Amino acid sequence: MSEQVKELLYQMLETEMGGVEVYTRALQCVVNDDLKEEWEKYLEQTNRHVEVMRELFEKLGLDPKAQTPGRQVVHHLGESLVEAMEMAQQGGTPEAAELVACECVVLAETKDHQNWELLSKCAEKAKGDEKKALTAACEEVEDEEDEHIYHSKGWCRELWIQSLGMPAVLPPPEEEKDVKTAIGAARAEQAREDML
Ligand SMILES: [Fe+2]
Ligand SMILES: [Fe+2]
Repeated sequence: MSEQVKELLYQMLETEMGGVEVYTRALQCVVNDDLKEEWEKYLEQTNRHVEVMRELFEKLGLDPKAQTPGRQVVHHLGESLVEAMEMAQQGGTPEAAELVACECVVLAETKDHQNWELLSKCAEKAKGDEKKALTAACEEVEDEEDEHIYHSKGWCRELWIQSLGMPAVLPPPEEEKDVKTAIGAARAEQAREDML
């Protein structure tokens, strides 16, 4: 396994661990009940993703505690997202903190989604036991990551629109249409006008 594939795996474990912290704090900022339910589900799934990564490290003989400069950057970004939500909680209205939390979730999930997309490309190229291990992990997680990013973006957009005093589609069209692809997300966003 190349050093850069290992680097991706270290960053992935750190992303998932940071994701648990991000959702835990985001749940303290949430106002909308449907979004709360959604984030509770995503927190549970993210906890499982940490486990999936740990199991993968075990199978591949990698040290889950190993640090790299890249992993440290991921850790720093995760902490910064939590701090940003704390700032918003202290400084503004609950609705403003909820918007910040939505943006933080989208930022965290953008990295998370990219990680799993990249790992499934690595799985395609891999061979033998390594291929088996990577493929199994991707098959378990990738669909959930699609939901995390596309649905979170929808929530972020609609809650912002609502805050601007314009009619919003809540829960967002991505949720209603069970979007799992980029093209589906684009279609859902286009269809929002008809759903108002
Ligand atoms: Fe994840
Ligand atoms: Fe995720």
